[in-house]
Amino acid sequence: MAEATAREAHLVLDRCDELASISSDPDHLVRVHLSPEHRAANDLVAGWMREAGLSTWQDAAGNQCGRLEGREPGLPALLLGSHIDTVPDAGRFDGMLGVLLAIAVAKRFAGAELPFALEVVAFSDEEGTRFGTALLGSRALAGTWHDDWWNLTDADGITLFEAFQDFGLDPARLPSAFRRPEQLVGYLEAHIEQGPILDDADRQLAVVTSIAGARRFELTMIGQAGHAGGTPFDRRKDALVAASEVIVTIERLSRELGVIGTVGRVEVLPGGVNVIPGEVHFSLDLRAEFDDDRDDAVRRILESAESVASRRGLHFRHREIYRADAVVCDLDLRAAVEEGIRSTGDADPMAFWSRAGHDGMAVVAVAPIAMLFLRCKGGISHHPDESVRVGDVEAALDAYEATVRALASA
Ligand code: GLV
Ligand code: MN
Ligand code: MN
Repeated sequence: MAEATAREAHLVLDRCDELASISSDPDHLVRVHLSPEHRAANDLVAGWMREAGLSTWQDAAGNQCGRLEGREPGLPALLLGSHIDTVPDAGRFDGMLGVLLAIAVAKRFAGAELPFALEVVAFSDEEGTRFGTALLGSRALAGTWHDDWWNLTDADGITLFEAFQDFGLDPARLPSAFRRPEQLVGYLEAHIEQGPILDDADRQLAVVTSIAGARRFELTMIGQAGHAGGTPFDRRKDALVAASEVIVTIERLSRELGVIGTVGRVEVLPGGVNVIPGEVHFSLDLRAEFDDDRDDAVRRILESAESVASRRGLHFRHREIYRADAVVCDLDLRAAVEEGIRSTGDADPMAFWSRAGHDGMAVVAVAPIAMLFLRCKGGISHHPDESVRVGDVEAALDAYEATVRALASA
């Protein structure tokens, strides 16, 4: 039994490697929504789903889905899954590991007559790397789609509408991806923690209590470009110096207020070494356990940016591009995950909130959700050094299976 589990865990890790080879950049893993690499990843995952005994289809939003019927056809489904898109220069486990664990667990139930169907979903877009707005795959499934998203553009000016068509999807059919609450029993996702709590405590698995709420903004500081030699300091309107003040303030306020603020992207225009920066575009990602804290921090950061701009004689603009509210995991599903973890020999499972965002934040609109976290080395994630231990993958497989069993016998 232990040997079989070890074999399955190695297969899951080999498949993570195989998926990681599908990248638009040969030197850095990046696989974005509706790209040729997304197509190749969906095809590969669909083959693994079929090999596990699932019937497969790609839904109208590009999510790759598979289904194993329960003791009679057509029963509501317990959804298992995660996402297969990545951030730029990603690790190989964020999202992908959750999809592959779900397929392996579903395979364990092939032929079992469960009181619900099992469905595995590989969400098309959780990160928002291509179009700025995240959770597009899971929001389509949950039916919380906004039609103004069709006009979102990627870095090449391609709209989401065009990208759907280029991928072979018909935007008019999108509503057929929507799922109704009566079709779903719940949603379970296994995911690396993406933080150091488990690793620091030398523990393998945890149950997630809630997922942090997040908001993302595009910020713009507009000053005046000018000659780097000829323009005296008291006549400069340096957009980069002003943006830098704002960035430092974001860190200071985030620490003071107990929220998590990050500026991950900065674009300086016109970008000449001997030209004073005239315009800076930068991003803000702001998260907190509670939405009120998140919103209070956003308000204070934007006020402070306005005052930096007016003190320096510049203009500041902001545009919100993404918002997802904090989500509390379902108590019954959480209890099942805890039972699953206990079955691996951990009598007192760790429980904490997820600082990272997940597809469950969208799926919760149509089904109760819960999550199982696995330790990742040093808590490192969104980085090529993401790493998991094979023993933790084994424990996750057994805990995941036991969670499904607990729900089946509830
Ligand atoms: C998703 O990985 C996120 O940004 O939390
Ligand atoms: Mn991620
Ligand atoms: Mn993820």
